[in-house]
Amino acid sequence: MTENRDNESVILTQRPDGVPSPDNFAFEVRSLGPRAAGMIRCQTLFLSLDPYIRSVIAGNHLGHGIDTGDVVPGEVVARIIESDDQKWPVGMLVRCHSGWQQFCDQPAEGLSQIPQALSRPSLTLSILGMPGLTAWAGMVSIANVHEGDVVVIPAAVGGVGAMAAQLARRAGATTIAITSGADKRRIALETLGYDHCIDRVDQDLAEALAAVAPQGVSVYFDLVGDPTLTTVAQQLAIGGRVVLCGLIKDYNGNHKTMGPHPGLWITKRATVSGLVVYDYEPQRAAFEQEFIPLAEAGDLVANEEIHEGLASAPEAFCRLMRGDNTGKVVVHVDS
Ligand SMILES: NC(=O)c1ccc[n+]([C@@H]2O[C@H](COP(=O)([O-])OP(=O)(O)OC[C@H]3O[C@@H](n4cnc5c(N)ncnc54)[C@H](OP(=O)(O)O)[C@@H]3O)[C@@H](O)[C@H]2O)c1
Repeated sequence: MTENRDNESVILTQRPDGVPSPDNFAFEVRSLGPRAAGMIRCQTLFLSLDPYIRSVIAGNHLGHGIDTGDVVPGEVVARIIESDDQKWPVGMLVRCHSGWQQFCDQPAEGLSQIPQALSRPSLTLSILGMPGLTAWAGMVSIANVHEGDVVVIPAAVGGVGAMAAQLARRAGATTIAITSGADKRRIALETLGYDHCIDRVDQDLAEALAAVAPQGVSVYFDLVGDPTLTTVAQQLAIGGRVVLCGLIKDYNGNHKTMGPHPGLWITKRATVSGLVVYDYEPQRAAFEQEFIPLAEAGDLVANEEIHEGLASAPEAFCRLMRGDNTGKVVVHVDS
């Protein structure tokens, strides 16, 4: 068996009240004891920071919860550094939920192999990972986006939004980004190829939307909640499809989305669907098989915001929850 290791970790010190601050976290070196029989030791290379972690650390997420003093959870790309299992050899790259720490022991059932065809492993946390699968579920599986659709995507350049836009464009739809700030407007139009871009801070959303979608919106992929949800819903075309996927506006606890009156859905003959990405795990392998070649060929853009070092995770996460990130937030922990 193995010896103890110093394990750099980020723990939750205090549940955030409102927008999280770096003071809610602490960087510690903990000791990782000897590896138990059957466990596989992994070293974190890339850590994904995602909005759902805000509800996990608040203690109100539907799947997970943690206490103060615990290592903050999160999905990572890791390298196996100790293993007695021939199916999971030393050196293999895997995806697992190690959390915000350098090393972690995992059972084999907690590991997924990173497809060998992938030249950049961080992609498995962004456009080819959970955010990408969410975008695929929303755009392809649920909304069935097709040529002629007018698709509106808020949080337009983030993990989910960036992939959703590219899937909609590939299907022949017109794409409208809602974002904030000059940097993100440029990324939306120049890097991700949206047809139109609306700044949610500097522009009047209702007016700007009416100008770029005069026939109405046929698909709205809601990643943020109100007031955007209600404003876009008022401009749905008859028979419009709405995919409810995220409520980032509400996550810091100082806002509650109510959505439009149901009468609006009736008038618009709308189809409104909820999306939980966990339901699409069985399709992940097929999703990867279809999209890895496109990413490798440069036909899909991964708009990642990479931060250096595990110690940068608290501020990078707070930046995400302030809405300041300019792409899918990933921390490069080790090489
Ligand atoms: N249902 C599911 O299974 C599922 C799975 C994955 C993700 N999601 C949800 O999808 C949404 C997008 O996730 P993501 O990982 O792609 O995040 P992200 O877009 O990378 O980051 C969040 C973005 O939200 C926008 N935003 C709008 N209003 C905000 C506010 N009041 N505070 C903070 N940010 C605000 C900001 O973009 P702009 O400045 O561009 O507006 C911000 O950059 C989240 O709501 C997430 O919970 C749901």
